[in-house]
Formats: sequence, C-alpha cells, structure tokens
Amino acid sequence: MVEAYSEKVMDHFSHPRNVGSIENANGIGQVGNPTCGDIMKMYLVVENNIITDVKFKTFGCGAAIATSSMATEMIKGKSIEEALKITNHAVAEALDGLPKIKMHCSVLAEEAIQSAINDYLLKSTGIGLPGYKPKEESCGIGGH
Ligand code: FES
Repeated sequence: MVEAYSEKVMDHFSHPRNVGSIENANGIGQVGNPTCGDIMKMYLVVENNIITDVKFKTFGCGAAIATSSMATEMIKGKSIEEALKITNHAVAEALDGLPKIKMHCSVLAEEAIQSAINDYLLKSTGIGLPGYKPKEESCGIGGH
C-alpha cells in the first residue's frame, strides 16, 4: 500500500512558504540529493546571530519542496545555534510525517541549512562550521 502524504505536506507543497532568492543574503547554501539528483538552494540573512530572513529554491519532488518550506519556517527568527539543531526528522515531524520512501527527501532541507550557515560563517569570520563537510553534489542536473 502506498503511504499517503499528510495534509501539512500537501499544504506546504501546494503553497510553499519563503520561495525565491535574497539579493543581499549573507549565507547561501546549495545541496544535492545523491539518491535522485534533486537540488536545493537556501538564502539566509543573518543579523546579530539571528536568521532574520530566509528563502529557498528547490528543484525537486513534492516532499523536498514541502520539507524545504517547513524548514525555512522553522529557522526564521532563530539563532544560528538553534537552526543547526534542526534535523530532517524534526522537519518531517513538523509536517506530521513523511512516507518512509520519501524520508531521504527531507535530508536536503537539513543539509541546506548547514550549508548556508557554513557559508555565512566563512564569509563573516573566515572560519566555517566546525566539522562541516560539504556533501558531494549530484551531477548531470542543473547544467553541471
Ligand atoms: Fe528527490 Fe525527493 S525524490 S528529493
């Protein structure tokens, strides 16, 4: 039997929050899902350690779009430290769950947050996120 999407997933998929890009973003992250080749880009504006604005673009499936949307809602107004604690499981839970076969899609959101914060730290302090290792981006998508 195919597991159904929750109403929250359908809502965030049909009406994703915070879609787009931010011209004066001071943290930009991009990650790819090696399982399917989908890509997510996240833009942050960080002021005094607080994420005051966030937008995303996801070239991916419905679950990836819904988790990206929820993840941006969860980190807006949060400190860098709080945002780093958000896991893909927390995002999926906030969406009332995801079908098991779509859990891998939620990893994009968690990794995009870390990638954008790493970029912010690199630009502002010259030192990236301790222990952060960028995941290999999938190729053959988005012109590379
Ligand atoms: Fe690629 Fe969902 S199938 S992120």
